[in-house]
Amino acid sequence: MSSHQPNPEPATQAIFSICADAQVVDGAILATSQLPGAIFVGEFHDYITVEKRPQFSPALRNAAACVALIDFDRDAELALKTAERLQQIFLRKLNIIAIGSHMDGPLLLRAMRCGCNEYLTKPVDTADLRASLGRFHNSQAVESQSPAWRGRVLSFFGAKGGVGTTTLSVYLAMQLVRRHRKKVLLIDHQHELGHAALYLGLKNGQYHFGDLIRNADRLDADLLNGFIVRHISGLEVIASPDVCAPQHKGTSDDVDRVLGFLRQHYDYILIDSSVRYQEAKIAIIEHADEVYLVSTPDVAALRDLARHVEHISLTDSSVGKLRVVVNRSTSNAAVTAEQIEKAVRFPVSIAVPNNYAELVRAINDGEPVPAQHRSEFNQQLAVWSNQIVNDGARPETVKPKKSGFAFWR
Ligand SMILES: Nc1ncnc2c1ncn2[C@@H]1O[C@H](COP(=O)(O)OP(=O)(O)O)[C@@H](O)[C@H]1O
Ligand SMILES: [Mg+2]
Repeated sequence: MSSHQPNPEPATQAIFSICADAQVVDGAILATSQLPGAIFVGEFHDYITVEKRPQFSPALRNAAACVALIDFDRDAELALKTAERLQQIFLRKLNIIAIGSHMDGPLLLRAMRCGCNEYLTKPVDTADLRASLGRFHNSQAVESQSPAWRGRVLSFFGAKGGVGTTTLSVYLAMQLVRRHRKKVLLIDHQHELGHAALYLGLKNGQYHFGDLIRNADRLDADLLNGFIVRHISGLEVIASPDVCAPQHKGTSDDVDRVLGFLRQHYDYILIDSSVRYQEAKIAIIEHADEVYLVSTPDVAALRDLARHVEHISLTDSSVGKLRVVVNRSTSNAAVTAEQIEKAVRFPVSIAVPNNYAELVRAINDGEPVPAQHRSEFNQQLAVWSNQIVNDGARPETVKPKKSGFAFWR
């Protein structure tokens, strides 16, 4: 990239061009010089594709908003790919202006679908360009006056292994994507051999949450992109290593920084974690919005559930986020929800029915049960996802009844 104007202060609007001719670049430099807070940060002389990724300067990465001027004249197909790729890299903070001599209807439609917001025909009129930049600037200002974008972090812990924590986080994530059309990231926080990618029929990917934590200081959308594996539904996943690997390290500050960054890019971030990672558990509970403790209705899991509820409830800040989930409940269960509530002294937020045959088949096929399938399991996950989207997942007050379990006495 050839740089035009080094500027140590983060710009409110950083403008750059791709494969643009001198007339467009001169017009852009003039237009930006007339707009307060805007800077022209430089030119890229090649189109940007998945295979060809340039270095982005700090001026671009740190700017509050960016505008790309993509010239379509040299190669319209590559220009379209560039638009798509830049949208992936810069996510919510980018606007794109397509520029060309002959932008006909079908090409314009494709450009819009690839993420271009406006188009200008050549020769570019500086006043038109300034007006476009001004519109982007104003819409950005309106957004920045509304509360900052903040995705919600939902964390999942099993009272013990095998209770269905991964299954529920995978299916809940799918509900949020497919029913509610949310942008969702599922993080498999197992330091090794997690099952989230496996249940979704995905390859594990090269980088894992531990690597993201290690890079907490230099996160940007492009780096994040390298960590993600994508499910066909649109769900994005950071998988766990499919080989034996050391445990995650990372301070509470690192976790806070990474989650803060992810909150800007997703509506929901689901973390399939484990109570075994003592240090990471504390950090995740501290920074999550909701903490789901999953159990099954059997004495061993419930004894452990009671202990974890007790432990998490020690601090006022975490007790408010805590939700108890009973998985694999059956209508003729030996242990009722009321008995569980009394035993663990905490209300049950949601009970998910047993769905053994369907889930085993889905795991073997590497294809989750479709969200529209009308099983009781899916219906209950739909209720749960509605609660989350409507933020109605507040636990009710406990109504203890009848006698408890041996472990509670
Ligand atoms: N509601 C359910 N009904 C039937 N089987 C379930 C249910 N939830 C999970 N399972 C099964 O239990 C097993 C363990 O689930 P998994 O989600 O990997 O547990 P965990 O992550 O807690 O170790 C899997 O075979 C899964 O299909
Ligand atoms: Mg698991």
